[in-house]
Amino acid sequence: ARGEYRHYMLKEIHEQPRAIADTLENRIGLERVYEQAFGHAATDLFADIEAVQIVACGTSYHAGLIGRYWLEGLASLPCTVEVASEFRYRKPRVAPHTLFVTLSQSGETADTLAALAYARELGFAHTLAICNAPESSLVRGSELVLMTQAGPEIGVASTKAFTTQLVALLLLVAVLGRRHALSPEGETHIVQLLRSLPGQIEQVLGLDAAVQAWVPFFANKQHALFLGRGTQYPVAMEGALKLKEISYIHAEAYPAGELKHGPLALVDSDMPVVAVAPNNELLEKLQSNLQEVRARGGELFVFADAQNAIREDAQTHVITVPPTDDLLAPIVYTVLLQLLAYHVAVSKGADIDQPRNLAKSVTVE
Ligand code: M6R
Repeated sequence: ARGEYRHYMLKEIHEQPRAIADTLENRIGLERVYEQAFGHAATDLFADIEAVQIVACGTSYHAGLIGRYWLEGLASLPCTVEVASEFRYRKPRVAPHTLFVTLSQSGETADTLAALAYARELGFAHTLAICNAPESSLVRGSELVLMTQAGPEIGVASTKAFTTQLVALLLLVAVLGRRHALSPEGETHIVQLLRSLPGQIEQVLGLDAAVQAWVPFFANKQHALFLGRGTQYPVAMEGALKLKEISYIHAEAYPAGELKHGPLALVDSDMPVVAVAPNNELLEKLQSNLQEVRARGGELFVFADAQNAIREDAQTHVITVPPTDDLLAPIVYTVLLQLLAYHVAVSKGADIDQPRNLAKSVTVE
């Protein structure tokens, strides 16, 4: 039941610290990730993996995009990510020793299931499902399985399923990475950060009132632009999907560096521009992109790390986010974008848990 919450979506947003803690339980020690979490055959099947292909749809696809930055950046494993409805209808070239990974909340998404069946024909080394539904077709059809422990997700807009998928992907980075470029210290670092994650999510949930205060700037707008760089680009994509899905405001995400290659032409005071700006090596680049928006009369809404020098001005609204490690930033900042979409949609009187034209589980093509 929704209990004290007005909608399932809000309840599920607030469940994320618990869902993440449950997804980590019995999967990590003090310094190591237990690879049995992926199934008894994990040690054997992971032994010869040299590349990863991720396939998923919608929000789960966005998790996969973030996973690629981690698998390549931390584990040095080549990784490609594709939406299932495209993958299944082309003729991909499969490099030897490639692990085929599906991500799915429901485990019943028709295109993802079809992609898994196709993957077997294509000759992938092994298959792994990261899934939230234990008895699902996807779980039954995969050699290895890592269950996210989000619990039932009722709201059509995926929230806790997404953040637990990201946690699961970090576990995967650890177990594959230790066979490649990830040092024992690197793995310990991931484990320690993961332990701190539920507490960090609690902290950003405390920024709810600040996020709500932005609602009037969005509620009567037709369009919104979301910007991010690096792992924050897929975070921006996820923020835009949440907003369009439940508030019916047209929202697009761009890697901030692409602004001047087209979308800058759209920027004016009628199009709020949301930016996710954790403190990382791309911050300076992002700052100059934000300046491009200001110079065109755009209004900025920035989620910024407390240590950043992004100041409020007539065109710039800032919500200050507690400092977080670069690795956890995509998870932490996503929660804020979930809250933004939620509150904007509530103010518009939209049907939050059951948006028009959408189904929770897309079991048809
Ligand atoms: O159950 P799945 O994770 O396979 O579902 C994939 C998408 O249909 C799903 O993530 C969809 O995009 C959500 N409604 C987004 O909030």
